[in-house]
Amino acid sequence: VAAAMAAERGLVAMATCTAPVNIAVIKYWGKRDTDLILPINSSLSVTLHQDQLKTTTTAAASRDFTEDRLWLNGEEADVGHPRVQACLREVRRLARKRRGGGEDTAALSLSYKIHIASENNFPTAAGLASSAAGYACLVSVLARLYGLEEELSEVARRGSGSACRSMFGGFVQWQRGERPDGTDSLALQVAPETHWPELRVLVLVVSGEKKPVASTVGMQTSVETSPLLKHRAEVVVPERLAQMMRHIRERDFEGFGQLAMRDSNQFHATCLDTFPPIFYLTDLSRHIIALAHRYNAHHGHTKVAYTFDAGPNAVIFALADTVAEFVEVVRRSFPPTTNGDQFVRGLPVGSAALSQELLAAVVTEPVPGAVQFILHTKPGPGPQLVDDPSQHLLGADGLP
Ligand code: DP6
Repeated sequence: VAAAMAAERGLVAMATCTAPVNIAVIKYWGKRDTDLILPINSSLSVTLHQDQLKTTTTAAASRDFTEDRLWLNGEEADVGHPRVQACLREVRRLARKRRGGGEDTAALSLSYKIHIASENNFPTAAGLASSAAGYACLVSVLARLYGLEEELSEVARRGSGSACRSMFGGFVQWQRGERPDGTDSLALQVAPETHWPELRVLVLVVSGEKKPVASTVGMQTSVETSPLLKHRAEVVVPERLAQMMRHIRERDFEGFGQLAMRDSNQFHATCLDTFPPIFYLTDLSRHIIALAHRYNAHHGHTKVAYTFDAGPNAVIFALADTVAEFVEVVRRSFPPTTNGDQFVRGLPVGSAALSQELLAAVVTEPVPGAVQFILHTKPGPGPQLVDDPSQHLLGADGLP
């Protein structure tokens, strides 16, 4: 009787996945099709390690669920959001196609409603590209639930453009594609996360204000008004993409870092060239940019490289042997006012003593409290399946 009741209750399937954040070194900015999310240029990113930054998502399907439902960081959210719906619809369409229309009795029924719960291991408000990890995770977990094995960056792209790049680990290209239906606008892995073992990433989380213009809205205004963006997409990015792939292949930090800085700067220049202009960089971002250049000038070559997305947080690339010294430079430049003991988080950072010459040349006007904390991470793998059922974010009743 108990077994029959359990079957009646009809909780059919549950799966949990995690997915990473990525940071672009050749930026995506601008769509040629806003509905399908097709970009005006290809882009390239580094997938960050999930030990430090990840989204976890559980999806469950049951014939007893009366509607699709979604919870984000414990709060119920709108499952009717067009981009969530696009991902759900596309995954279900692929599952239907795979089954060739016939009813596979072993497979999960496509008519069942689903419950989805998702959470980040970092504060969403910190502005750390949570939508890329979020949609990559949603698509990965739905694919798992419906038994899809194909490459699904094309579906993740429908959630958020940058999300397609979070479907792979390491170094990832999103090729713009040519077709109007978007079937060739996909993410491709350029190199796995093991390719460049010395590469490290420092996320400088600045004191939290919300971003002024959402990237989706901002980039469309740029497409409509910025002649620099048009030139960038047509002329600059195709050349830079090829160069960046070469720097990565050769593990050339000097080339990689310089190009990453130049591309970030050009992206923010297109924001200024947008009318009305969009400002993502703040005085503090510019302070960090100047600091990085002073540090590199002091050493006589590119030891650190910054990149900024649609917000003021700085992401710094460096090789492992530079991290301790540069972290000390950041600590001296932005002395922590509150969480001094938690100023450096993530991967361990050794201690470094700074020479008087370096201090004098690089640490000019300290701004106490301006950087909240530094997250030390490195390139990491793509989405992962979580096998341990105790990690599900939904209970046996399908609720968080
Ligand atoms: C500056 O992927 O967030 O981070 O496709 O509208 O969801 P939508 O935009 P989104 O834009 C990211 C822009 C960027 C650069 C990048 O990640 O390439």
